[in-house]
Amino acid sequence: MQTPGYKEPLYAPFERYRMMRATQPVFQHPDWGGWQVFRYVDVSRVLSEHATFSSDARRMAQSEGSQGDADPLGSSILQMDPPRHRQLRNLVSQAFTPRMVAQLEPRITAITNELLDHVTAAGEMDVVRDLAYPLPVTVIAEPVDGQRLSTVELLGFCGLLLVAGNETTTNLLGNMILCFDEHPDVVDRLRANRALVPGAIEETLRYYSPVKGMTRVTTTETILGDQRIGPDQIIIAWIGSANRDEAEFPDADRFDIEREPNRHVAFGRGIHFCLGAPLARLEAKVALNAMLDRLPGRWQVADVPLEMINSFILLGVKKLPMTWGA
Ligand code: HEM
Repeated sequence: MQTPGYKEPLYAPFERYRMMRATQPVFQHPDWGGWQVFRYVDVSRVLSEHATFSSDARRMAQSEGSQGDADPLGSSILQMDPPRHRQLRNLVSQAFTPRMVAQLEPRITAITNELLDHVTAAGEMDVVRDLAYPLPVTVIAEPVDGQRLSTVELLGFCGLLLVAGNETTTNLLGNMILCFDEHPDVVDRLRANRALVPGAIEETLRYYSPVKGMTRVTTTETILGDQRIGPDQIIIAWIGSANRDEAEFPDADRFDIEREPNRHVAFGRGIHFCLGAPLARLEAKVALNAMLDRLPGRWQVADVPLEMINSFILLGVKKLPMTWGA
């Protein structure tokens, strides 16, 4: 269903990204002074060169002129630099090893099927309310091995998991349905060949990246693109733009579930690369396979205007009514 009403809000940033990549790929905002970066090569560098582009919440707050780290996520590894980042990441990464994550598959499958049990007979659901929201939050809320973090760090990490691990995965599942709705042949191809499922998930991550951008602050003067940037400058690296950059992805605006290679930056780059990536990929794979098993016929998003979530950094919709059947 390709009504402009629903496509427009999702497409809007991509038009702007395209223009900025072509005309002002490293751009300083005239009012607030912060920098925005749009090309794949520059976004990758900002995300991964942590000595020059810091994630430190306190440094960022000072550059913005605010009082300090009022943001509870300021105590999470997402907003820390080495060496404390390395210490904490080593600790928590034990819960996210491929073996630990693989062990969750039966439980994720059971939760997914329980959620689909409530809707299959009706022939319709709100993808966000009935599946994409409750699945990741239920998986995350179940006990993890007890590890030792300070109380503040523990609270920061819980907050990070709730935001970083839930809304993002919710949006990945919702955005996947939007991609399929725009490309109805894909569902039939997936039904015929389940080996294409991982590629469909990777292409959704690239095409409608659930995290639009991440923020850094410069520690020193540096050259980015053709711009000289001083120290203590806020930089937004637009992941959603990097993932549509023609210089990296031929025919970048085409949704191609067999795209190879697909070196998207939807999970970031470098030392902050998403810890939950294996879990998000597994949840998406289980959910998509269960939907392919249990929701027959044509999947169709309702012909109503879809409302974007209110977020500077996340891309997704608030509600996503869909039907299936003959
Ligand atoms: C589709 C789903 C997801 C997307 C698109 C996503 C995206 C990202 C991105 C872009 C970063 C890098 C941030 C930066 O460089 O500043 C990140 C970091 C992180 N993500 Fe995810 N994420 C997802 C799911 C999850 C899940 C399910 C969890 C945990 C259960 C999680 C936990 C984390 C953590 C702990 C970090 C911080 C890593 C660090 O700073 O070392 N994420 N994520």
